[in-house]
Amino acid sequence: MATQTLSTDIFSDNYRFLQDYVRSEVGIVIEGDKHYLFESRLSPIATDLGLGSVNDLCALLRATKEKDLSRRVVEAMTTNETYFFRDPAHYDAIRNELLPRLKQERADTRKLKFWSAASSTGQEAYSLAMLLMEQGLSDWNLQILGTDYSSQMVERAQSGTYQQIEVNRGLPSTLLLKHFKRAGVNWQLSEAVRRMVRFETIDLRKSLRALGPFDMVFCRNVLIYFDAATKQNILEQIHGTLFRGGWLMLGGAETAFGYEKFFEKQSIGNAIVFVAK
Ligand SMILES: C[S@@+](CC[C@H](N)C(=O)[O-])C[C@H]1O[C@@H](n2cnc3c(N)ncnc32)[C@H](O)[C@@H]1O
Repeated sequence: MATQTLSTDIFSDNYRFLQDYVRSEVGIVIEGDKHYLFESRLSPIATDLGLGSVNDLCALLRATKEKDLSRRVVEAMTTNETYFFRDPAHYDAIRNELLPRLKQERADTRKLKFWSAASSTGQEAYSLAMLLMEQGLSDWNLQILGTDYSSQMVERAQSGTYQQIEVNRGLPSTLLLKHFKRAGVNWQLSEAVRRMVRFETIDLRKSLRALGPFDMVFCRNVLIYFDAATKQNILEQIHGTLFRGGWLMLGGAETAFGYEKFFEKQSIGNAIVFVAK
């Protein structure tokens, strides 16, 4: 049967194939007419491979089980927007309320573990590291794990190198001068901050329990991309990685639908946080 073209030149059966492909590989749901999104993200890959169009790329994807190509396509469909000290109310709550409590609760072990799930290029994890450095915890064992599905994002985060435009977003100039130095046109984060964070690739839909136990988990601005069942399952998994009474931070636009079984919602200053039951 002949395939019809929709608003752009991706054939309708290829459009559905790409929607299903991305959903099954990474869990991201792309609904409605998002032809421009597939076109803009996948055309550069098609061009790079010497293919004429995204339709040709679909034909290749259907014909091959090549993992590198699959990852490249799927990673291109992730949205990696992030910046330093995003949703500052969370960092204020940590500084003013949560850390003072944790310092008392963990005074015996002097160990704190944090997780930035879906860490993208690392600004969330490094913001936390810089905040912790200001809190007189130098003799504490502080561990921050940053994870993301995308190996390209993990590599960028590990490098600790940021463009001018990235350090202009959310990072106070005092912290820029204190923790970064110039590297050509970019900025390089200090070894001292980088050492506090370890990054690895992790798919949030996989079993997560072995990663914990954490005192605090950031899972911000990623659940919005998943369907309700996937969100629910990830929330349950994250609950399993947290100490009882540990805190979960979600993105401003995210509701933890069905969270009540696992978390209690609390307001701390201007921040909403979720406490593990
Ligand atoms: C918009 S960024 C959020 C970055 C940061 N948490 C923030 O709020 O600024 C979303 C990230 O989620 C990652 N992601 C998408 N699906 C994922 C999955 N199944 N497992 C792990 N990470 C995923 C993407 O690669 C992307 O880097």
